[in-house]
Parts: sequence; C-alpha cells; structure tokens
Amino acid sequence: MAKLRHSRLQAKKLSTVTLVLSMLFMLTVVLLMLLGLGIFSLPINSDDTPPIAIDLTSYRRMASERGKGLGKRGEQWTEVLSWEPRAFIYHNFLSKEECEYLINLAKPHMAKSTVVDRKTGQSRDSRVRTSSGMFLRKGQDRIIRVIEKRIADFTFIPVENGEGLQVLHYEVGQKYDAHFDYFADKFNTINGGQRMATVLMYLSDVEEGGETVFPAAKGNVTAVPWWNELSECGKQGLAVKPKMGDAFLFWSMRPDAKLDPSSLHVGCPVISGNKWTSTKWLHVEEYMV
Ligand SMILES: *[C@@H]1O[C@H](CO)[C@@H](O)[C@H](O)[C@H]1NC(C)=O
Repeated sequence: MAKLRHSRLQAKKLSTVTLVLSMLFMLTVVLLMLLGLGIFSLPINSDDTPPIAIDLTSYRRMASERGKGLGKRGEQWTEVLSWEPRAFIYHNFLSKEECEYLINLAKPHMAKSTVVDRKTGQSRDSRVRTSSGMFLRKGQDRIIRVIEKRIADFTFIPVENGEGLQVLHYEVGQKYDAHFDYFADKFNTINGGQRMATVLMYLSDVEEGGETVFPAAKGNVTAVPWWNELSECGKQGLAVKPKMGDAFLFWSMRPDAKLDPSSLHVGCPVISGNKWTSTKWLHVEEYMV
C-alpha cells in the first residue's frame, strides 16, 4: 500500500515537471513567434545612441530609402529653379534602371496623346500635343509604389492625391505647345479637385531640343548655366534641359491656392534623339482611380 502511494506520488511529481516543462516550451515558442513577427524586440545596447539634436536631412533620406528601388542612383541634390513659377529640380531622382523599367513597362501600350477639351472635358486629338503615351496604374507594382512614395516624400503631397504615372514618348519634331496643367473646365476637377503640382521625370537624355520651357517665368531667364545649349524654342523662357533620371517639380497653384498663370509651359520639339518622360499630376484632394 505504501509502495503504491509512493509511486503515485512520484507519478504526480513527474506530471508536474512535464507540465512546467511544456509550459516553458510553449512560452518560448510564443516569444520566438512575437520576435519573428517583429511585434516584440529585444532591447539591444549600442554605443551609437542617437544625438539629441536630430539631423532632419538624414531622417528624410532614411524615410525615402525605406523602400528600395531598382539599381543605384547617382548623387542626389535639389535646386531651386524659380519662385515664379515655383519650380525645383531634383537630380538623380531615378536610377538608370528605373528609367528603363518605366519605358519598358509603357512601350507595348503607347497610343497617340490627347488633350482635354475645354468645353466638354473630353479627351481629343490635337496638333498642340503630338507625342504618344500611356498611363500606368497607381501602385501597379512594387517599383512603381517605391517611385510614387519617393514623389510623395519630395513634394509633401500624399500618394493618394496623385494620378497614375503617365509615360510619354516624343520623337523628332514632336512637342507639346504652351499649356497649363490645371483645368479650366468643371468636369476634370470632380475627381480630386484641381491639379496642384506636377512632377516631370526625364527617362532619357535628349541630344537636342525637347526642353521644358516656362515662357511666363519672372526673372532673368538667360542666367541659367545651360543657356548656350538651348534650342531656339528653349530660349523662349526659363528652360530645363532633359537629363535622364532628373525630376522636375513645378506648382500650378500658389501657396494661397490661387491658380498660377506663370506655370504656363511648353514641351519643345525634339530636334535630335528621343525624349521619354514620366509625369505625375498631383491634386489638392485624394484622386480616385
Ligand atoms: C541676365 O543674366 C546674364 C547672365 O548672368 C547677365 O549677363 C545679364 O546681364 C543679366 N541681365 C539682366 C537684365 O540682369
């Protein structure tokens, strides 16, 4: 009897040990799962604690590099081109690989470009705009999403406010006459409200011509360092020469939300070479696609 009791006690002790062990095991599994999912992280001591004064430039770079794009971008810097219109250049915004990626995505779907009819709000063919182009879908794939996020970081305008990227191709002689990017009709402002800003990305170099020119810009337009390299058309105003990977931001609205007539611009005819661009139009409100 006593022996039986003893072994029963032993069995009880054994099952308690098993229970404790299995509970410990379960706890470890749960902890590992939390660690793996990144919900929980172990405190790691490091000597390079962040400085108290936060360097916002490096923070911005970190924010934009969170999503890696394709290839390696050259050194990046921004330049103020003009305050009237408000226009800025961002050098090496895209890598060569990203430019080629966008061109190759668009190439099989290119169609003759249209313009918006002022009276009806419908798209129509035009002699004013002779390029061909197509729209990519917003957030179409990972690379597009990274580029769209990069545009949002640069402009401080949310991704939601953008139209899908448009890819355009201008061959020799093709151009886009003077126009505004904002709308004069009621129909085109229903979705997202007025267009507020434009980011134009140059996907190729252009040997000659193909400049983006602001004929109504204020200031000394001959003072740009590249003045002597401009075509006749390029000398009509403040000009930007296409350079592969560069992005160009200009605002169609002033900070007080009035439309800015100095944002009138021209896509000069290509004289030699090929011009590929990608445009992102940004609205004042969320743009539904
Ligand atoms: C414009 O800039 C050019 C080049 O810097 C200079 O030679 C010219 O005198 C300027 N013109 C005016 C009106 O300031």
